[in-house]
Amino acid sequence: MPPTVPNVLTGDRPTGPLHLGHYFGSLANRVRLQREGADLFVLIADYQVLTDRDVAERLTEYTEGLVADYLAAGIDPGRVTIFQHSAVPALNQLMLPFLALVSVAELSRNPTVKEEIAASRQAAVSGLMFTYPVHQAADILFCKADLVPVGKDQLPHQEITRTIARRFNERYGPVFPVPEALLSDTPVLLGLDGRRKMSKSRGNAVPLAAGPDETARLIRRARTDADRRITYEPETRPEVSNLVRIAALCQDRDPRAIAEEVGDGGAAALKKVVTESVNEFLRPIRARRSELGRDLPREVLKRGNERANAVADRTLAQVREAMGTVSP
Ligand code: TRP
Repeated sequence: MPPTVPNVLTGDRPTGPLHLGHYFGSLANRVRLQREGADLFVLIADYQVLTDRDVAERLTEYTEGLVADYLAAGIDPGRVTIFQHSAVPALNQLMLPFLALVSVAELSRNPTVKEEIAASRQAAVSGLMFTYPVHQAADILFCKADLVPVGKDQLPHQEITRTIARRFNERYGPVFPVPEALLSDTPVLLGLDGRRKMSKSRGNAVPLAAGPDETARLIRRARTDADRRITYEPETRPEVSNLVRIAALCQDRDPRAIAEEVGDGGAAALKKVVTESVNEFLRPIRARRSELGRDLPREVLKRGNERANAVADRTLAQVREAMGTVSP
């Protein structure tokens, strides 16, 4: 981490409520960075929703829901700038000069984009799908972020961002820091159905907003295996080990100790432990959520958008100046 207070930017697409996977994968990191005094920007990436679908559904609901999830998880709106793509014109304008700094070949090599194209239900690959990593560079560079806490799947985008920052500086003079990715040390949580990851859209996640009964119901339905004795062996017993890991993360303990405690109790005993751990873990998050006023998310966004606009305007002015495009 740089010696002075780092600028940090992270973002989420507003496609549904945040869940435990998000918490341990990135929210916990954000709350820690906030505590350490970082200047933290949290982007609600609404334009990025359109990469793999024709229409962004329920945008207002999901956007305000994300803000509520952040605040409930411990993000302090007095210290953190929460904002949206669509509200910050100068950020979006950076995409144009940035597009000129990368080749089509570089864009087409991006493994995350390739996977998303394969998974998309759209008939044709849109220009946005192909170029959104450049837009993501604008997200990161408009506020001159030094650090970007992300999951592993975002590393190719991070590389494009670093390339764009370097090339811009070489061509036009030093404007941007070359930002570092900050990987969470918590590996991705599997879905409760055993799929590769917890996902907002697959119903295989425990939302941070779930009440105690819904939490119990979701965990009761989780996949396990036929072996009665509970052990922690992520390679050979992914579903059971994932449940053990959820309990361990919630209790901040070693997963092996938890597996040993459950021992011959089988899946039913394991699920009871997981349910209790998750409910205990979510208790303060639920309490904070119940205290949020109805209008707070909108107010927080309004303030965040204002600050993001001020920062983006300043950066765009520097970019214009460096490129010699200042208008009279
Ligand atoms: N692509 C990220 C995701 O799907 C969301 C995102 C958009 C992002 N802009 C960002 C993450 C900038 C980090 C930095 O999760």
